[in-house]
Amino acid sequence: MKALEAYNLKKIYRQNHQNFPAVQNVSLSIAPGELLAFLGPNGAGKTTTIKMIAGLIQPDAGSVRIAGSDPHRNPAALQKLGAVLEGNRNLYWRLTPLENLEYFGVLKGMTRRQARQSGTALLERFELMHKRHTPVQQLSRGMQQKLAFAVALVHQPQLLLLDEPTLGLDVEATEDVKVLVREIAASGCAILLTTHQLPIAEELSDRIVILQKGEVLTELPTQELIRQFCGTDYKIEMESALDESRITALGTIGADVVDRQIIYVKQPELLYKVLAILDPLPLHGVEKEEAALAQIFLKLVRKGRNRDA
Ligand SMILES: Nc1ncnc2c1ncn2[C@@H]1O[C@H](COP(=O)(O)OP(=O)(O)O)[C@@H](O)[C@H]1O
Ligand SMILES: [Mg+2]
Repeated sequence: MKALEAYNLKKIYRQNHQNFPAVQNVSLSIAPGELLAFLGPNGAGKTTTIKMIAGLIQPDAGSVRIAGSDPHRNPAALQKLGAVLEGNRNLYWRLTPLENLEYFGVLKGMTRRQARQSGTALLERFELMHKRHTPVQQLSRGMQQKLAFAVALVHQPQLLLLDEPTLGLDVEATEDVKVLVREIAASGCAILLTTHQLPIAEELSDRIVILQKGEVLTELPTQELIRQFCGTDYKIEMESALDESRITALGTIGADVVDRQIIYVKQPELLYKVLAILDPLPLHGVEKEEAALAQIFLKLVRKGRNRDA
């Protein structure tokens, strides 16, 4: 069974006396243990979609199933779900970590004892035991975020929703969160992650969905998306300018020479012929053009924008 199945979600907001479709025809599914990165520019509708999945706002159309049950019809479905939403809203700042874990565990249907046990195990795992009796407002931002994760996990959900979980964290706390996220997925929990930090999405996700103007623009396995956008070009840089006869020879076999010193090879099978022509001149470097997720994202989103314009 899928941990999440969202089908044709739609949300229309009223803005300036007009109906504004914030989310349209968005379908998502996530298998147990899978991490889906849910990306898109500001205002694309990511948070609205997540709130519909979390049962916090009612969709105007479409359906949500969390491990088979509908959070809008059957509130018990929410027991299968944990969420870390924007801005740390799932913690009580005057309560201690342990009190938060007990409170939210009970809210999710656990006994106090179960919540305490599970909460203590999470505090140990997240290295927060020494702070268990310190009010949340006195913890560092990184510790608060780890506690937000613990609270979201205290009832052992099958689906975890993470909306910008590294926002405002320093480098070290961001690394901690990355390790946590990887461990949580490895334990079998399905994860829906939104982030503007695309290297994190690239590193952690199995699959990527890009949302634009409320609609799904692209959906592909992460490695597939990167492979599709990876150029096959090699770029060879020489230590010094090439002579005319070599430039002519390179042109004849179909390599491009720029500034007499940089050579682009579009077909990988040409690489060794090119190198034979260059032999024995000193090379500054040979590299393959790699597409990072950030560039792919920009390319797709700009293309999507132009298509609508
Ligand atoms: N409560 C609301 N009322 C009216 N418009 C809203 C409301 N919440 C979000 N929107 C609008 O819906 C669109 C999608 O917002 P959101 O889901 O927050 O996008 P994202 O999380 O991708 O940045 C935006 O244009 C936003 O202004
Ligand atoms: Mg958002």
